[in-house]
Amino acid sequence: MAFNIAIDGPAGAGKSTIARALAKRLSYIYVDTGAMYRAMALYLLREGISAEDSGRIEEACERVDISIIYEDNVQKVLLNGEDVSSLIRSEEVGNMASRSAQNGRVREKLVELQRQLAAKTDVVMDGRDIGTCVLPGADVKIYLTASVHTRAVRRYKEYLEKGMEADLAQIEEDIEKRDHQDMNREISPLKKAEDAVLLDSSDMTIEEVLDAMTAVCEKKKS
Ligand code: CDP
Ligand code: CDP
Repeated sequence: MAFNIAIDGPAGAGKSTIARALAKRLSYIYVDTGAMYRAMALYLLREGISAEDSGRIEEACERVDISIIYEDNVQKVLLNGEDVSSLIRSEEVGNMASRSAQNGRVREKLVELQRQLAAKTDVVMDGRDIGTCVLPGADVKIYLTASVHTRAVRRYKEYLEKGMEADLAQIEEDIEKRDHQDMNREISPLKKAEDAVLLDSSDMTIEEVLDAMTAVCEKKKS
């Protein structure tokens, strides 16, 4: 049986950074489910389909092909065969992903793909509904969070490091809006699974979070 580690939490909590590092430490595959919602969002943006147009979104789900491949253990997300891994990293795509992720058919399609990946191999999978919906029987569940301000500052620094302009107050506002959307949607809202370990990384370094998670996994394995 594959060993599954589920990490959920809000934007900027450090999920992808930590999940990637944890997967490397354990020699597991890292599955970034947000990238799948982002690829779907990019498709909708390109097609000029509104996040509120559920009829056209459902039609789009029938023709769009989203798949995941691994090159040197790095996940690449393919949209109709095109590698869109870098193109999906904008705030515009992130916001569209959060809005279109409210659609039940979009979720059904992507959850199926996520379960297929986790059934085959040991994974560290991160997202919003992994412990509550995608892998309710995951061996380890972690809910990783941090204060809105801490998360906004992290995103702000990322933009500056990339040489991009950024407005901290705007980022903080966007994060609050996305949290609200993700936590209050009807289908699979972001929430801590009852059996998930809660980690608040507001005052923790990446290394400290990683060590805490490794300890949780090792305890479970032994
Ligand atoms: O995947 P998610 O949106 O939850 O967050 P992320 O993209 O992994 O992390 C956002 C930023 O926070 C990254 O630049 C990390 O290096 C940083 N980070 C941090 O400074 N301290 C932590 N304890 C965790 C992440
Ligand atoms: O990296 P960041 O935390 O900003 O976002 P992401 O993980 O790339 O996810 C983008 C959006 O997709 C989120 O705001 C969620 O609305 C949605 N998503 C979801 O609904 N379920 C998941 N398992 C993963 C992402």
